[in-house]
Amino acid sequence: MGTSSSIFFLGFSICVSLMILSGTTMAAYLNVGSVKPGFGGTQMDFIDRKGIFLMSNDSNFSVGFITTSSNTTLFLFGIIHAGTQTVVWSANRGSLVSNTDNFSFSDAGDLLLYKGGTVVWSTGTANKGVSSMELQNNGNLVLLGSDGGILWQSFDHPSDTLVSGQKFSKGMKLVGMGLKSQYILQIMSGDMYLSVDYQTPQTYWSMGRDTRRIINKDGNQVSYARLQENSWRFYDNSSSLLWQFVFSNSASNSTWIAVLGQDGTVSFRSLPGQGSGGSISTSDQKIPMDLCSTPEPCDSYWVCHDTSSRCSCLPALKSYQNCSVGFASSPCSSSSKALTTSLVSAGDGIEYFALSFTSPSLDKASIESCKSSCMSNCSCLTMFFQNSTGNCYMFNSVGAFQDSGKGSDYAAYVKVLGNGGAGASPARNGSNSNKHVAIVVVIIVATVIVILILIYVGYRYHKPKDKVPETPEVVSEEDNFLENLSGMPIRFTYKDLQTATDNFSVKLGHGGFGSVYKGVLPDQTRLAVKKLEGIGQGKKEFRAEVCIIGSIHHHHLVRLRGFCAEGSHRLLAYEFMANGSLDRWIFRKNQGEMLNWDTRFNIALGTAKGMAYLHEDCDVKIVHCDIKPENVLLDDSFVAKVSDFGLAKLMTKEQSHVFTTMRGTRGYLAPEWITNYAISEKSDVYSYGMVLLEIIGGRKNFDPSESSEKSHFPSYAFKMMEEGKLRDILDTSLRYDEEDERVTRAIKVALWCIQEDMSLRPPMTRVVQMLEGLCPTPQPPISSPLGGRLYSSFFKSISEEGTSSGPSDCNSDAYLSAMRLSGPR
Ligand SMILES: *[C@@H]1O[C@H](CO)[C@@H](O)[C@H](O)[C@H]1NC(C)=O
Ligand SMILES: *[C@@H]1O[C@H](CO)[C@@H](O)[C@H](O)[C@H]1NC(C)=O
Ligand SMILES: *[C@@H]1O[C@H](CO)[C@@H](O)[C@H](O)[C@H]1NC(C)=O
Ligand SMILES: *[C@@H]1O[C@H](CO)[C@@H](O)[C@H](O)[C@H]1NC(C)=O
Ligand SMILES: *[C@@H]1O[C@H](CO)[C@@H](O)[C@H](O)[C@H]1NC(C)=O
Ligand SMILES: *[C@@H]1O[C@H](CO)[C@@H](O)[C@H](O)[C@H]1NC(C)=O
Ligand SMILES: *[C@@H]1O[C@H](CO)[C@@H](O)[C@H](O)[C@H]1NC(C)=O
Ligand SMILES: *[C@@H]1O[C@H](CO)[C@@H](O)[C@H](O)[C@H]1NC(C)=O
Ligand SMILES: *[C@@H]1O[C@H](CO)[C@@H](O)[C@H](O)[C@H]1NC(C)=O
Repeated sequence: MGTSSSIFFLGFSICVSLMILSGTTMAAYLNVGSVKPGFGGTQMDFIDRKGIFLMSNDSNFSVGFITTSSNTTLFLFGIIHAGTQTVVWSANRGSLVSNTDNFSFSDAGDLLLYKGGTVVWSTGTANKGVSSMELQNNGNLVLLGSDGGILWQSFDHPSDTLVSGQKFSKGMKLVGMGLKSQYILQIMSGDMYLSVDYQTPQTYWSMGRDTRRIINKDGNQVSYARLQENSWRFYDNSSSLLWQFVFSNSASNSTWIAVLGQDGTVSFRSLPGQGSGGSISTSDQKIPMDLCSTPEPCDSYWVCHDTSSRCSCLPALKSYQNCSVGFASSPCSSSSKALTTSLVSAGDGIEYFALSFTSPSLDKASIESCKSSCMSNCSCLTMFFQNSTGNCYMFNSVGAFQDSGKGSDYAAYVKVLGNGGAGASPARNGSNSNKHVAIVVVIIVATVIVILILIYVGYRYHKPKDKVPETPEVVSEEDNFLENLSGMPIRFTYKDLQTATDNFSVKLGHGGFGSVYKGVLPDQTRLAVKKLEGIGQGKKEFRAEVCIIGSIHHHHLVRLRGFCAEGSHRLLAYEFMANGSLDRWIFRKNQGEMLNWDTRFNIALGTAKGMAYLHEDCDVKIVHCDIKPENVLLDDSFVAKVSDFGLAKLMTKEQSHVFTTMRGTRGYLAPEWITNYAISEKSDVYSYGMVLLEIIGGRKNFDPSESSEKSHFPSYAFKMMEEGKLRDILDTSLRYDEEDERVTRAIKVALWCIQEDMSLRPPMTRVVQMLEGLCPTPQPPISSPLGGRLYSSFFKSISEEGTSSGPSDCNSDAYLSAMRLSGPR
């Protein structure tokens, strides 16, 4: 429950900060079926729904901002199949938007997507009488007029996917985004074609020539196609079935999609219903049938084979550098006009994917006339001559070639730089060869000099060390001796700790950095051994950090006794704290004795002192980044000690931010973790304020089981302060002296610490002074009154759903993406 409450609070803070930034209308509710004009929002507004704002009636499809795998901070606006998280349509593939960019279903009836304040996509339906936007059960997003007529639908504007039932007609395009090129599927001239968007588009497949096609009626022109049951069906303009392409044996009515992928093939997948437990299955049938018939299964000019070693250099280019023809762009560009080019035979059995879909540039030609026509046309890059027909084909862009597997009727030629002299590298030809030689000589000489310098430096550097030969044991013993002497942490072997913990048998807990085990040293000293997980650092850096952590001694900080860095093992051995962590004492009051006010106050003060030391008195300022009750430990006389300090630094920046925001503890996270302000010790102050509030209230900062007014504790606390009923915030089962000044002081300090504006939060030393009464504690300002008002509606909407979504949402990409992943600074 801890995480879910924290999630809610996170979502809450995001919304609050957004509200303040943009003043948009609150739109956190999930709509089912349809929405009316005047609706809109950003990804962050819908973050508790993973960016989704509208779901189809049967909840199989939803619309919203969808996380992309390429960049978790950028989003698609589109339709997703809920059960499999498959994107079936998107509006903005070319211009992904951030979590602060909004869409708007305007009052005029236009659906608009903004990026940085400018419209990047719209349906263009303003003032056409749109009365609602509806997501149908088949995955079609439609804008309806007041008479129920369709004014716009996503099915008419497919991206790279077609869904069962979707009509794909003449004039529509399905576009697959390859790494270098785009692939286009469309119906033209009575057939369906796949082509690549080269300077002159090149077609590589048509349904009319696919041998797997089943013909129902011949002779008519295809006008539209539709995925139905287990086949793709092609109809003419009077809706009579012409052809079928069967892609699956089972004739069930499950939802199929056809996707034009990055490789230029169309594949067919069936989407199982939500909760059916099935997974996406992909049909064996692909279009085109084999990958070598697509434009770029290999790099340009390479040859594709239907074998396991798919790509090889074109035989004619083997003697050229990098298997390349020598010119980057077309030899037509003015700067390359002066280049000498020649045609060389590409080799035997070489064909090209576009040959059977292209009309010849010359017919009834001879090989000579074909060659000379290519040579005289600077945009001709490759040329094929069909001996049997006399057809001459020329292409001005070149994808990959095909290995025909046997001899070929075609003679293939490619244009290369230079005169094509056998085996000569292009660089050797022409007038600048002398220049090249000079450059090469200079590079070699420079390299030799640098190497000599490095060898010399290395020799000088190592020499003194060589004079003192030592065995490794001697070094490590001396290390240990020094470490013990200076009170530095002891280096344990993995075996030591394994024995001490009885092979890690008694687990004390599991924190963000790894599990903690109880251990006893041979001298009966008790230890808490933390097995670190996911520490992305080498031994040396680890030891450096451990030295820093180990050198920090304070009455209110948990003492590091030793460590182990062996192989991949990274362990830390801390002093043992008999009473465990604070959360055991303040939240589960019904199960055990309750901490009295004095103890609580001393714990709060001790924690503050420990943190003040970390922030101000250490040689290196340490920002803890993960202050929470679980990290405040209590010894046998209930003295509070802060643990886990300095560990955030053991991780890479990115790891630590992900850790803190994801697995860390959201209810305690300062808003700047989300809003991307610099993280500083003031972020710790915020977390401390939350912990202090919990100590005072004896409850979690978000508790959905409380009445709605009280469920978000900080807001409730601010409200009570406003109403002058500060003491209502206190744990109801707590007995305290009415005269005790410390009670109100502590509450005020907590409210100072959790100010949204970090410049208002006091430094920890000041917190200590205020708690001790050494300086006055003024009345705190009301933080985010807006938030106070908003939170109730916001939390109500999530509470209705219960808290079950908590743990899974916790690790979802959508959440991750909400954070800008920068490290602590
Ligand atoms: C993601 O996109 C943002 C905004 O365009 C950019 O600043 C960031 O570098 C991108 N991250 C990655 C990993 O590409
Ligand atoms: C969306 O953003 C644009 C530009 O920033 C703004 O004009 C518009 O009012 C916003 N719409 C909604 C619904 O938030
Ligand atoms: C969704 O269900 C509601 C209520 O049953 C109905 O009025 C509406 O037309 C349905 N919408 C769609 C898209 O099926
Ligand atoms: C269908 O197309 C044919 C030509 O291919 C044309 O003659 C006929 O009028 C069209 N019919 C309809 C209903 O559009
Ligand atoms: C699929 O649905 C169609 C129409 O809804 C129906 O005619 C057909 O029999 C169904 N096929 C199967 C295998 O259920
Ligand atoms: C759609 O949803 C219904 C129930 O909500 C489910 O039974 C059905 O299998 C789903 N269909 C698909 C194709 O996801
Ligand atoms: C050959 O390829 C390497 C690595 O891809 C590249 O750095 C180099 O510039 C290429 N050389 C030429 C002549 O294209
Ligand atoms: C081309 O065709 C002619 C006859 O049409 C034949 O004599 C010749 O051998 C063929 N050349 C090649 C390379 O196939
Ligand atoms: C040169 O070749 C290109 C493509 O092969 C062709 O489109 C163009 O018309 C040709 N130009 C001339 C002058 O023949």
